[in-house]
Amino acid sequence: MSDQPNPTKMWSGRFREPLNPAFESWQASFRVDVRLLAQELAASKAHAKMIAAAGVLTTEELDRMLAGLDQVPLAVLEEASKLTNLDVLREAYKVYRPNTGFAMSSAPSIVALNPHVEDIHHFVELQLTKEIGQLALKLHTGRSRNEQIATDMRLFVRDSIDATLSGLNAWALALVSLAESVGEAVMPSYTHLQRAEPVLIAHWLLAYVSMIERDLSRLADARARMNLCPLGSGAVAGATLVLDREIAARELGFDGPTPNSMDATSDRDFMLEFTQCLATLGIHISRFAEELTLYSTAEFGFLDLPEAFSTGSSAMPQKKNPDFTELLRGKSARLVGATTTLAVLMKGLPLAYNKDLQEGQEPVFDAAQTALGILEILPAFTSSLKFNFSRMRTAATTGYLNAMAAATYLSNKGVPFRKAHEIVGNAVRLGLESARELNNLTLEELRSLSDAFAEDFFAAITLEATLDCHDVIGGTARTRVAEALAAAKLRLGDNS
Ligand code: ARG
Repeated sequence: MSDQPNPTKMWSGRFREPLNPAFESWQASFRVDVRLLAQELAASKAHAKMIAAAGVLTTEELDRMLAGLDQVPLAVLEEASKLTNLDVLREAYKVYRPNTGFAMSSAPSIVALNPHVEDIHHFVELQLTKEIGQLALKLHTGRSRNEQIATDMRLFVRDSIDATLSGLNAWALALVSLAESVGEAVMPSYTHLQRAEPVLIAHWLLAYVSMIERDLSRLADARARMNLCPLGSGAVAGATLVLDREIAARELGFDGPTPNSMDATSDRDFMLEFTQCLATLGIHISRFAEELTLYSTAEFGFLDLPEAFSTGSSAMPQKKNPDFTELLRGKSARLVGATTTLAVLMKGLPLAYNKDLQEGQEPVFDAAQTALGILEILPAFTSSLKFNFSRMRTAATTGYLNAMAAATYLSNKGVPFRKAHEIVGNAVRLGLESARELNNLTLEELRSLSDAFAEDFFAAITLEATLDCHDVIGGTARTRVAEALAAAKLRLGDNS
């Protein structure tokens, strides 16, 4: 036991006893928040400019501090190189991205080199001290880690939203081009997973484009709502210096400062909302994946999954497994899990900052990385899909999928729809008993069920007529789908 405070800590002044070593490393978040290095540096530079404007730093001190902060990433990598070798250094340079911090692969060596660092804020302060000496300790004037982590996470979420938006847009465009390439090819639509009516394959693909467009607007909406800067909020009650908070907000590309310090330091709605958006997106991706998994089975036989995205079985030589679509379904569970974790984490917290909030970072990082990982592959996978058109057409033209069109025919002849439904039901029964589709029944047989049937009935139940009778906005009539496709291209900015 020592009666000396630990000088390497950010809060050691009032402590006389050392921390329990197991507790010390267990409570540290550096292993996780190391990936906020870029955000922490950007926020620190903005704070430095704000306190310089308040007279805490001279111009010369500010310049030294900014230059020192700029040196931190390189110094960190250089330090890592001493521990490892040149290849690892090269790798680290490759994975360092100014906007998203260190990718996970380089983080372990940085963390391993700094076992006593508590979190990313502590780390940057220590590194900056190595660069510029005691001047570094002035950086913390007028700020608290509570507002820093809130700011870093906002920057991280904002970058992640932007990356997700661009990946999602690419997926939507891949679906649109696929829809364009299949022309007027058809498939059965399903309700209750029973064949319902024929639809254009393009119409089915555009259903996913509609979902993606809602995901895009949800994410854009969340971005607009979260784009405010917590810096200047202090630990809970606001900074103790008269700071011009607009300076930091502007520096970091925020629309302005947050309006309430208690909320700003404890609010994690923006993380919850981001993960909620990703959870909904994950649900959409999972439905797509589930459909493709089903459609690729021998039982459906609608598509042959691209070999480049499948694997074989080590036991059964004939197998080609739909790994990608299965993993999409599986990974979407992580997205739903992340938002659940955050909701449960926040629901019982009194205002304002509580250390529980530290646990909110990992699910956000995991969800962002999971979604981006998926979106890096999904557009290429979607573009490489090959349908078995003849099998889809056969499925769409057998099993009385034109029964609804037949009932519509009778109702156009003045038969009340309820009655028409029953007559066509009887016709289907007749067909089932003699293994014939509706168009193979004779006019005589049909007229025995209703004298509203005439020769023009057969033209009204062809595949084309069955599609085109859905001539409404959002319907599968061929002209409507062509219009929907053109409109989607325009909205998504595809100029091809
Ligand atoms: N690592 C902490 C977190 O992520 C930073 C804020 C710590 N604040 C505090 N008062 N201990 O929440």
